[in-house]
Amino acid sequence: MTFLNLIELEALARERLPRMTADYFAGGAADEITVRENRLSWSAPTLRYRVLVDVSQRDLSCTILGRNRESPIFVAPMAFQRLAHPDGELATVRAAARSRATMIVSTLSTVPMEDVRAATTDPIWFQLYIHKDRGITSELVRRAEAAGFEALVLTVDVPAQARRERDIRNGFHLPTDIPIANLSNAGIEHFPAIRDDSALASYVMGNFDPSLTWRDLEQLSQSTSMPVVVKGIVRGDDAKLAVSHGARAIVVSNHGGRQLDTSITGLEALPDVVAAVDAKLDVLVDGGIRRGTDIVKAIALGAKAVLVGRPVLWGLAIDGENGATRVLDLLREELDTAMALCGAPSLANITPDLIA
Ligand SMILES: Cc1cc2nc3c(=O)[nH]c(=O)nc-3n(C[C@H](O)[C@H](O)[C@H](O)COP(=O)(O)O)c2cc1C
Repeated sequence: MTFLNLIELEALARERLPRMTADYFAGGAADEITVRENRLSWSAPTLRYRVLVDVSQRDLSCTILGRNRESPIFVAPMAFQRLAHPDGELATVRAAARSRATMIVSTLSTVPMEDVRAATTDPIWFQLYIHKDRGITSELVRRAEAAGFEALVLTVDVPAQARRERDIRNGFHLPTDIPIANLSNAGIEHFPAIRDDSALASYVMGNFDPSLTWRDLEQLSQSTSMPVVVKGIVRGDDAKLAVSHGARAIVVSNHGGRQLDTSITGLEALPDVVAAVDAKLDVLVDGGIRRGTDIVKAIALGAKAVLVGRPVLWGLAIDGENGATRVLDLLREELDTAMALCGAPSLANITPDLIA
């Protein structure tokens, strides 16, 4: 297993995965313009680095939701990780712990959330999809609380499932031996193949609630002791609404280009959101983060941390826990080097003037 960066590992992983799975991981909505733009956007800004700063000691720690963390790298919530490797989310959470990253476990995990939680003593977060059946939703929240998740990440950019044409073409579905482990109590843990369509799309349409409003965020934040993080915001006015309805942090995200194609990128959306929340809460960003310099730019624009998605799945597919660890370690090492080269010994030294 050799990969030198987070770009080249997709091709390696593809050799080990069925086409249906690799396309599901890589794909996005419609023409996949946002998938491409997410990646390209980070390469555009140039860095005005400082020189002759003592960078012999570098500190990658940050404070998010009031807790000090050793790294600003989070693993984005991603469904169905046992499609990548038999250990699935258990391998990912161990990899995150080894690399001092924070994992966010998806509602659509293929390992029960309690087992993922038990695999590490580090703080980890749980991502929530609100279901039409609010009994299912409150049960998920109750279980996440009981298991000791640090925060609840409410994803708000799936009022409908986008047309992901690769999944339609491949008839994307879950094999029966890989259920959605968190939903077995609800009896909706399987979605077998359906003819000429993505079974996931019909699953989402059938079960996720498209009637959600800010009131639901408020109710959710009042109903749980966990801080609620809202994921999927790309506008300053929405960020303000999130603050006033109880959010404690925001993830600026377009869902990795998997929802609204031609949507604004994280990099483009970040300054507006950061200005709108006026330091009242922490802002994180995701979408196309593949290089240490991408993280420097995100932080220079006001993000406290970043989420990385697909590369972790490719790493899992290549070599399970070790592969995912290598992905996260590479990104962390690249960030460390980029900080040295920018004359920024700590994340606090990554200031807006670093961007030309
Ligand atoms: C295969 C896959 C599954 C995903 N599943 C979820 C999910 O269950 N919940 C969620 O909030 N976001 C989900 N996402 C979106 C990611 O959390 C994240 O926003 C995105 O992947 C970041 O972009 P990147 O992959 O370019 O790093 C998924 C993304 C991928 C690639």
